[in-house]
Amino acid sequence: MENKKLTMAVAGAGMRGAGYAECASLIPDKIEVVAVADTDPEKVKRFAEKHNIKPENCFNSVEDMLKADKLADVMALCTMDKQHYAQAIPALEKGYHLLLEKPASPDPFECKEIARVAKENDRQVVVCHVLRYTPFYRELKNIIDSGKIGEVMCVQANEAVGYWHQAHSFVRGNWRNSVESSPMILQKCCHDMDILIWLIGKHVKSVSSFGDRSHFRSECAPEGAPERCSEACPNYHTCPFSVEHVYLNRTDNWPSQVVMGDPTGTNQYTREEVAKALETSPYGRCVYHCDNDVVDHQVVNLLMEGGTNVTFNMSAFTYHMTRNIYVMGTKGDIVGNMRDNTITTRIFRGDEETVIPHGEDKFGHGGGDMGIIRDLVALLDPNDDSEKTSLTSIDTSVESHIVALAAEKSRLAGGELVKIDDYVASL
Ligand SMILES: NC(=O)c1ccc[n+]([C@@H]2O[C@H](COP(=O)([O-])OP(=O)(O)OC[C@H]3O[C@@H](n4cnc5c(N)ncnc54)[C@H](O)[C@@H]3O)[C@@H](O)[C@H]2O)c1
Repeated sequence: MENKKLTMAVAGAGMRGAGYAECASLIPDKIEVVAVADTDPEKVKRFAEKHNIKPENCFNSVEDMLKADKLADVMALCTMDKQHYAQAIPALEKGYHLLLEKPASPDPFECKEIARVAKENDRQVVVCHVLRYTPFYRELKNIIDSGKIGEVMCVQANEAVGYWHQAHSFVRGNWRNSVESSPMILQKCCHDMDILIWLIGKHVKSVSSFGDRSHFRSECAPEGAPERCSEACPNYHTCPFSVEHVYLNRTDNWPSQVVMGDPTGTNQYTREEVAKALETSPYGRCVYHCDNDVVDHQVVNLLMEGGTNVTFNMSAFTYHMTRNIYVMGTKGDIVGNMRDNTITTRIFRGDEETVIPHGEDKFGHGGGDMGIIRDLVALLDPNDDSEKTSLTSIDTSVESHIVALAAEKSRLAGGELVKIDDYVASL
């Protein structure tokens, strides 16, 4: 019997869309990317060349793609946060399963609507909570579920955003402004809320949060810093956020790909070419003179069922871009460091053991990007029609979004306690 491949249409050929297509291209016997849409014709052209997309399957927008007959089994919806809902609903109605970028929507009502319409049309929606598919968090989940450390009573988790990543994405870039995209605790940390709920295996009852944009504001600009980052600034060669440091000294990294509008990484760019683009790009602005409003640090406290407490810290002010976690149980504790790729378990009346989680997939969120594509292929395998559910279905993922939005509500109210049941009832 012929083995059928899963087919995927990529809607939004930016960094994420290009990344998933790259992952799919590594398992060509299982999945094929057959269509692409983006409002930037250059991105469509490069994407189509790289993945051999027929001209009739290239579109100038998701909206145009949705006017055509259904082109694939699944649509990878990788446009910006606030666009997802309006594109997801007609895509589901047209019969596409969805690989849906997070946040599914900044509006909890829209998240629930996506779940409802998916159910009505018997479609799967896999939300891109890629951390659940990493070897690191899978291993951690196995250890917690084994019961070795007893009941989890406290968790301390950190998301280290990285000073240059904050400057790129959350001060100069796409997610700098919560009105245009979504609050940072949702955009960046719905991943963390999701992973904490999954690891601990309990629901969240109450939330409180503090946080602010304390540093990336004009009052903090060094004397003489101009509106645009350039050698005219007295701090150009010492500022950790200068374009020289973030882009020009490493033109082969992904922030430079973003500046050059080349998510498929088709070309290599010289320092001079990137410098030229930065002269007019939003990424060429001084970090102290941007239209950013999202926080640069935020702490969230969660009270979970059974009295389990979680403290979560998100900070821009970190050298590395990583996550770490300390899980405290009634019989032992676990220290996990994603960057070092180590998980150490210490049993109070027992041994200490360190494991190095390994999986075949290394790139893209610690292997999570490839992991979610493999899982998608297994979930929607055209050769196997048995009933399956995704690890990160929209139904499961809504909780992380609600908790993140409740945390934002608390932060805006100066840290006021928000009870999740009350918050949900108020929506
Ligand atoms: N899962 C994760 O870990 C993760 C990481 C980063 C970003 N994200 C999320 O992924 C989404 C995309 O982020 P990105 O980094 O790829 O951004 P991006 O800006 O690189 O890509 C978005 C693309 O959508 C295109 N676009 C906009 N409107 C369109 C339309 N109407 N039709 C077709 N294309 C359109 C843009 O031209 C752009 O190429 C966002 O929602 C973001 O929050 C998720």
